[in-house]
Amino acid sequence: MFALRCFTVWRTVLRSSLRSTAAGGSVISSVTLLIGSAFAGVYRLWAMFCMPGLRVPFRLKVPFLPSTKEQTLNVIKLLEGRKGHLADLGSGDGRLAFAAPSMGFQCTGFEINSMLLACSRSKAWWRGVPHTDIHFVKQDFWKASFICINVAVFLAPAVMGVLEEKLLKKLPEDARVIVCRFPFPHWPHSCTAGSGLNQVWAYDVHTAREPSRTSSHQSYFPSISSMI
Ligand SMILES: C[S@@+](CC[C@H](N)C(=O)[O-])C[C@H]1O[C@@H](n2cnc3c(N)ncnc32)[C@H](O)[C@@H]1O
Repeated sequence: MFALRCFTVWRTVLRSSLRSTAAGGSVISSVTLLIGSAFAGVYRLWAMFCMPGLRVPFRLKVPFLPSTKEQTLNVIKLLEGRKGHLADLGSGDGRLAFAAPSMGFQCTGFEINSMLLACSRSKAWWRGVPHTDIHFVKQDFWKASFICINVAVFLAPAVMGVLEEKLLKKLPEDARVIVCRFPFPHWPHSCTAGSGLNQVWAYDVHTAREPSRTSSHQSYFPSISSMI
């Protein structure tokens, strides 16, 4: 949305600049060109820090949006009593992953944006977190193969249907997926915590795979499997 707005403003500025150049207004055109370049620069900077990059298809792009403290606490609540490995799909600056060791998890954060990855890795180094506790990898999680029994995601509504389809195929029977802010459209949730922007949902894969659900679920997604 922000990107689109920036682009529209930049296009308008550029157009008016070209018009004024044609009219011979060199000062005005220089100023408008300068403003246009400034907007383009701001957009590039924003994209560099917040967008997943060109390798992710447009329909699956999710920008960086940090989770709130309350959201993280709700994730911890829904993972209580579980053990093993936690995968954070789209780990951003690592804030969710850093909560994992306190819950007794080893965590792998998948992040495709190099800036965010560098930020989370340097935070881990600064805090002295051992590599065995939290491990950040530069990888597109749509292409990654992870067999994890705990998964945390904070993404966007447009990709949740595609993600539930992927996870249904990949995750083991005893896996639990914690989803922040934007729930899965078809899986039945086991429990939820928080409200509004801080709401998180827990989904157990064995419930989502129940035969009756799986058959009706597949009819919702005739072609999604071929999209990934
Ligand atoms: C909404 S942010 C969530 C950040 C973090 N998990 C948090 O809770 O603060 C989504 C993150 O997913 C990353 N991302 C988007 N698509 C990705 C992909 N295909 N592979 C890896 N990371 C991705 C983005 O760069 C962004 O940092």
